[in-house]
Order: sequence, then structure tokens, then C-alpha cells
Amino acid sequence: MSTAANRHPVRIDRLFAGAGARPDQWRNLVELAQAWSSGSGNRDKFDVALAEMAATEEFHAYPGLALITALRDRAAANDASATAALSRRITRALLTRSFRQNPGDWEADEDSEAVTTDVLPPALGRADARRPYFEVLIVTGAPATRWRALASEWRRLRRPLDAFVYEPVVVGSFEDAFCATLLNPDLAAVVIHEGFPFRSRHDAPVLRTLVEGADQHEPGEVSALRLAQVLKRVRPELDLYLVSNGAIEEIAGDPKANVVRRVFYAVEELLELHLSILEGVQARYDTPFFDNLKKYAQRPIGTFHALPIARGKSIFKSDWIRDMGEFYGPTLFLAESSATTGGLDSLLEPTGNIKKAQEMAARAFGAEHVFFVTNGTSTSNKMAVQALLGPGDIAIVDRNCHKSHHYGMVLAGAQPLYVEAFPMTEYSMYGAVPLRTIKQALLNLKAEGRLHRAKMVDLTNCTFDGHIYNTRRVMEECLAIKPDLIFLWDEAWFGFARFSPFLRPRTAMGAANDIEAWLRDPKSVAAYEKQQADLGAAPSDDVLLNTRLIPDPRKVKLRVYQTNSTHKSMSALRQGLMLFVKDVDFHSVEAQFHEAVFTHASTSPNQQLIASLDVARRQMELEGYGLVHNAIEVALAIRQAVAEHPLISKYFHILGTDKMVPAKYRESGFTDYLDPSSNWATARRSLQEDEFCLDPTRMTLVCGTAAFDGTQFKGILANRYNIQLNKTSRNSVLLQSNINNTRSDIAHLIRVLVEISSEIDRRLAQGGNVRQEFDARVKSLMTDVPDLPNFSHFHDAFRKDAGNRTNEGDIRGGFYAAYDAAGCEYIRLADAEIDRRLKDGPDLVSANFVIPYPPGFPIMVPGQVITQETIDFMRKLDVKEIHGYDATEGLKLVRTDALAKRTEVATKRVA
Ligand SMILES: Cc1ncc(COP(=O)(O)O)c(C=O)c1O
Repeated sequence: MSTAANRHPVRIDRLFAGAGARPDQWRNLVELAQAWSSGSGNRDKFDVALAEMAATEEFHAYPGLALITALRDRAAANDASATAALSRRITRALLTRSFRQNPGDWEADEDSEAVTTDVLPPALGRADARRPYFEVLIVTGAPATRWRALASEWRRLRRPLDAFVYEPVVVGSFEDAFCATLLNPDLAAVVIHEGFPFRSRHDAPVLRTLVEGADQHEPGEVSALRLAQVLKRVRPELDLYLVSNGAIEEIAGDPKANVVRRVFYAVEELLELHLSILEGVQARYDTPFFDNLKKYAQRPIGTFHALPIARGKSIFKSDWIRDMGEFYGPTLFLAESSATTGGLDSLLEPTGNIKKAQEMAARAFGAEHVFFVTNGTSTSNKMAVQALLGPGDIAIVDRNCHKSHHYGMVLAGAQPLYVEAFPMTEYSMYGAVPLRTIKQALLNLKAEGRLHRAKMVDLTNCTFDGHIYNTRRVMEECLAIKPDLIFLWDEAWFGFARFSPFLRPRTAMGAANDIEAWLRDPKSVAAYEKQQADLGAAPSDDVLLNTRLIPDPRKVKLRVYQTNSTHKSMSALRQGLMLFVKDVDFHSVEAQFHEAVFTHASTSPNQQLIASLDVARRQMELEGYGLVHNAIEVALAIRQAVAEHPLISKYFHILGTDKMVPAKYRESGFTDYLDPSSNWATARRSLQEDEFCLDPTRMTLVCGTAAFDGTQFKGILANRYNIQLNKTSRNSVLLQSNINNTRSDIAHLIRVLVEISSEIDRRLAQGGNVRQEFDARVKSLMTDVPDLPNFSHFHDAFRKDAGNRTNEGDIRGGFYAAYDAAGCEYIRLADAEIDRRLKDGPDLVSANFVIPYPPGFPIMVPGQVITQETIDFMRKLDVKEIHGYDATEGLKLVRTDALAKRTEVATKRVA
């Protein structure tokens, strides 16, 4: 293994490597200092490494200018061992974060007693250990020689009464402010003083690459307001304050100033500013429901309602179930209640702290309304579908979406028009639905005169395997064909993306906010009209499919819904989720929405789940940026380690973007995160332009090349190494990183992969037939893969009034056909009858949803005509869990005579 001394640490401008590269840089510095001190290295290497870090270290409060200067002085004095000692101490304080409580960490000399306020920061002390800590970026045009004094002024404002403690970080230019905002995850607020230059005082190429990733900045434009707008786009959760000596009334009145929390006049307001900063953080820290629940749990309450476990007396007094009480602790029971009064609120009709908590979540996630739901995203999908669609409405639906959408269509009586994702046959998985396919479906409906019936486009973003849509482009182009379409984006896996500036524009709410801004821009109408003139009076379908369509901003009704399994990517308890709404016509469906909530939500929602949603929101608003960055860095580190390890890479590999997303959907030419030429700027281009990109946190590890099928490998990881994962395919497993992962997790995984690879190596070295058997198994898993079956069509009995060019159907009719036992039959999969009927008819028509796990999408829906590909796929399928299919009974089919009766009725009805 390489050591930090002989490898270069990850560069800070390498894609997504920002905050995570910093500890590496410090560890590297320690090793260089130690090498110099022990005689195996030299001072030059240390000096170069320290100089390289200098520009970006200014963006963090610790170790700060004083300690960096001390470090530099020790090196200049040629004192290798003192340099090594100080590097070690700083690095330890940084990694353990002890500098937040320990004033000694800010001293250059370990045993120094001196506390000089202009050098030493915080009167942080042990008492602050429980006070949350953050940093505030101060952007100023004052000369760098004044910065230390400036920071001291800020520190003098601290009071023991303050709920939080913070350290100022001073920078002097637009570029530095931008880079600090990207690289310092501890920032919670930014104070921008008017009058600073654009260029950084450092000529650091590292900074240039980062700034290239900034949003449409113009080098000449350096007003505080401009900076505020750019920073808000990068990290919308930050509170921004503007300080000006000039016409602040004018600034405050500028509509662009809505990104700023408060505008202050000059510096005499410092204490006000300090209090505003604390108040701003408090506004994110507050968790109305959770705070109240904690108070509730402390009160002596007599309960005469159901739910005996509330207060825990039946548990703690019992000889038989006391261990449950001991396991969970008393708080869980004290915090349980089935009451909705007494300071608690009703999830079904919130008017108090749940309502407030939901409003705060709406702010945090960029939505207009948020519904907390406690039965998983499965429930919120059904709620949204039921609320927004009625019988006979047509919805364009990704056939591979989660089963809850399909069941939602059954409940609503809507007619799904299934569209197919691009297949990734070699890995037995699907990608996402190409925009061209969606546009074609809409154009077909238009040609059939049925476009008015199309109400919704329903897609999964990102998919289980990590395909992310260009949500903005999909919505804009679809709205160009039908301006009032509703979009339901299932972002079960993607809730965290709000807190990454790279991923946010690709979330439903991120894109909806961007589209909303575009709609308001007067230039948009001109852009639309120009395109209309270019397209001419009656453009052909081909032209429309090949053009990036611009909607008519005057006609668009922006109606966007996003469901988000908060529990899958944030700190919410299992089943806790949020449903986001940004719909200009929400008032017209609000009553329906509440009905849908009443239909699906339990009347006994779990208080802890609701509280955890409130807390998850707090966490993401205050530290989500750093946590998400960390999850991405963990994923990139795993990708890198697997690719570079000589033994692991013999048998395993993780699919890069180029393998997961076909080239035609990567217009920017972006290939992969591991490509040495990728950086923030190339990633930004890819995320802006490409039809699909890959969520870096979702890693498809191909194990077929190690002769394991997905299910088998998942079992080995779980049973032998305590590594759990969920999704598998025929020849791969899906690894996911999230905000919970650490570098130790990476180390564990890599060690396990090394061990498994070594075992394979040893086995193969045994000779005999082992190699042949191994190769045969690899071949079977990697090349002998079943074709993925597309959705065929609904049988005529279930097509209702579908057009000739479109394949929507009456899924509800198909679903209820299964209730008529006499109208159904079973045929076993292996039975030759199946093959005979496939060849000679009559049609085999599924009476059920048949959903294999994995992959988890329905390969048959009720009323669907079964084709040869579907049967081949099922016969080759090596998974045990197939919902809707009982191997002993066989496939449940609607009988031919029952179909004939239905077809007759359907035909009469249409006639
Ligand atoms: C895309 C998608 N949507 C919805 C769900 C259901 O979410 P939940 O498990 O929260 O009910 C899942 C579950 O895996 C999913 O993959």
C-alpha cells in the first residue's frame, strides 16, 4: 500500500473531493514532516505541500493564520522535529474536532499558558462542548493585514447566553468567498461587506477550477448582491447578511435582495449582526414537533386512551416484557401517545407544531407545501396518484417504477401509458426513460386527439441504480407539448440531493424552482417565439423530437410533485418521508389531496416518526451540505480503491458513468468521476447538459466476473462479513453510500473484497477443473443473460378506448378481473401449454402484478398480454422472491372466455 509520503493526496479541486481531501492533505503533511525529521525525507517537500494548502486553509477557522504562520516559521528555522510535532497536533485537533472545545489546540506551544485574544480564538472552552459550533464567513474589502483584528472584534461579541458558538473566517474577494462556501461545510452564515475585488489575492490554479464551476458569474460584476445570489445558488440553506456604507435602502428594495436575510448599515451594527446570525441558526435549529414532544415526555400525564405502552407502565412493571423497556429506554414510551391534543398535533389535519414543522421542511427543500407521511414512499406515491388522477385520465408512467405507482393507477382508475427505460441487458437492469420516448408518447396522444386526457408524467428520479434525469429539460419539453401536465417525480432515493449544489438542479424541486425563475424572465417569451418561428406552422414529429423544445411561458402551469423517502437518505426513522408540492394549481386539488391523505394515512401515526422527520430537516439545513459531500466522497473513494487495487480489480469492478449511461445520453462527453480530467467544471457541464447522469453514491459492483451471481454475493457479504446491501442483479450488487458512512466503512469493504479476491486466486491456483468451471460460470453470468422484456400491451378487453398509436389501458379492470375466481386459470411456468399458447394462441393475459425482487418492477401487470420474452425472462430468473407468482400454482391468467365477455362489453361501450 502506498503511504501518504509517496503518493500525492487527493487534489481539492478534484471532483467532489473538496472537504474530504482536507484531512488527507493534513495527514500527508504530517508524514512529510515526520519523514524530514527522521532523515528519510526533506524540508522542500514539506514546504511545497504546506504552500499548496495555504490558499484553501484560509477558508477554515482552524488552524487559522496564526498556527499556519507558526508552522511555517518552524520549518524556516529548520526545526524538523518541532515542525512535525506541531503538524501532528493540528492534524489531531482537526480530525477529532477537539479544537471546538479545547483552547489549547489553538496554541503553537503545547504547554503555553498565554492566551492572546488576537491570536487565540474562541474563548471556546469545556463549557462549549455542548453548544453547537459553526463558522461564519466574513467577506471584506479590508486589507489582509486587518483581518486578525477583525476576527477578534467578532469574537468579543460572544456571550455566555448565546445558544451557539461560532468562529469568523475572513476572506477578501469574490473568488475566495465562492471557494470558501464550497469547501467549508461548517459555514452556517455569510456576512458580505460591500467593496471587495473579484480576483483572489492568491494565484492558485486550484481556486480557478473551482470558480469555473460557479454559476454564470461575470468577472466584472462584483457587487455584494451579485455574490449573495451566487452563494445562495450554491448553498441555499446559508443565511446571508449584507453590510453596506452606501444606499442600503436601495439595496434592500432591490428584488434581487430577497436572497439576503438582512441588510445592515455599516459596522456599528456588529452586535445586531451577531444576534441576527444566532437567530438565523436558531430558526433552522428549531424543531417544533420534536421540541414539543420532548417537553411532553417530561410531563406527568394520565392516559385514558388506547395505546397502553404510552408512559411505559405496563412494560416496566411486567416481569415478562421488561427487557423491551430496558432495550428501548423509558423515553420512547414517555414520548408515545395517541392523543392529538395537549401540545401534540394531528398528522391528518395539522394546525400546530406539525404544520409548523412541515412549513419549515418546505423552506428547507424548496417546496411550497410539504406533507409528512409515516408509511413510506409507497404510501405517498399512492396518495399523489390518487389525488391527482381520476378515472379515465391518462398518465405516462415509467413501466419500471416502484409498484406503488402501478397500484396507485389501479386505485385511481387512471389509464397508464407505459413507457420503457433504456435496457442494460448485460447487467439485467434498466436505465431511465429517454425523453424522446416520452415526447413520442405525448405526440402520439396528440395525433389521436387524446392529449387533453393526458394529465401526468410519472418517473423515478433517480432510479435504484442511480440514473438521474435532466428534470428541467424533461419538464420543459413536455410542457412545450402540453403546458399543464403534472409531474410526479419519485425521488425515494434522492432526497439528500437537495443539499449538493451539483445534484440539486436535477431534483424535481430544484428544477421546478429554476423553471419558475425562467418563466418570470421577460427573455423567455422571446426565446419561445423565436423557436416557434423557426419551427414553422406544422413541424413534423421528427422535427419536434429532434428539437430541444421551449414551452410557452405564458401558458405553462407549473405543477410538480416529489416524493422522497427521507428515511432512505437522511436521519429519519424507517417509513418516515416527505411529499413536496410546487403546484400553481394546488388550490384546485387541495381537497382531493386531503382525501388521499385520509385514504392512506394511518389514524395512529407514530410520534417518533414524525419527530424524526422534523429532526432530519434540522440536520440537513445545518450540516447537510457537509454530510452529502462526505457520502459522495466515500463513494468516490470506494470506486477508486476498487479500480486501482491490483487484486480486487482482477475480479470486480464498479460501473462508471460511461457504462451506466450510453454515450448518446451524455452530450457533454463526460465519461466518469474517476477520469483524471474530471473536475468541478466538467461535472457541472455534464449535470447541466446531459440527458442522464449517474448518482455517484450508487455503485453497481459487478460480481459476475468473480463467478458470483448477485444474490449469492449479497449472501456472502451479509453472512460472512456483516456487510448489508439491498439490490442485486444477475451479475451485480448495488452498494450505496449515505450520510452515515465513514472511511472505516470503506476500509472494511475493501479489506473484505481483498479477502474474497485472494480466496478466488487461491482456488484458481489449485489446478484441475477449477479454472474451467470458474470461466464457465463467469460466462453464464456475464454473457448468457436474458433479454429484458418490454411491456407488450393491454389485451383488447382492457384497452378501453385507447388509441391505435398508444397503449394505455384499464389496469383497474385487469386488477379486478382477478377477483373472479371462475374467470381465472393457472398455468405452471414449465408447462408446455404456455409455449403452445404463445405460438398458436389464444393470448395469455396476466391477472396479476408479477414483480420479481430484484429487480422489483412488474414484468406483468393485470390485463397485460404475456409475450415470449416475458416467459423467457421468468424462466431464466434466478431470484426466489416473486410477488404475485406462486411457483406451485403457476401464472394466474384471465381465462379466454372471461376475456371474450369483457371484450364484447368493452366494444359495445366504445361504440
Ligand atoms: C423508487 C422507489 N419508490 C418508492 C419506494 C418505496 O419506498 P418506501 O420503502 O419508503 O415505501 C421504493 C422502495 O424501494 C423505491 O425504490
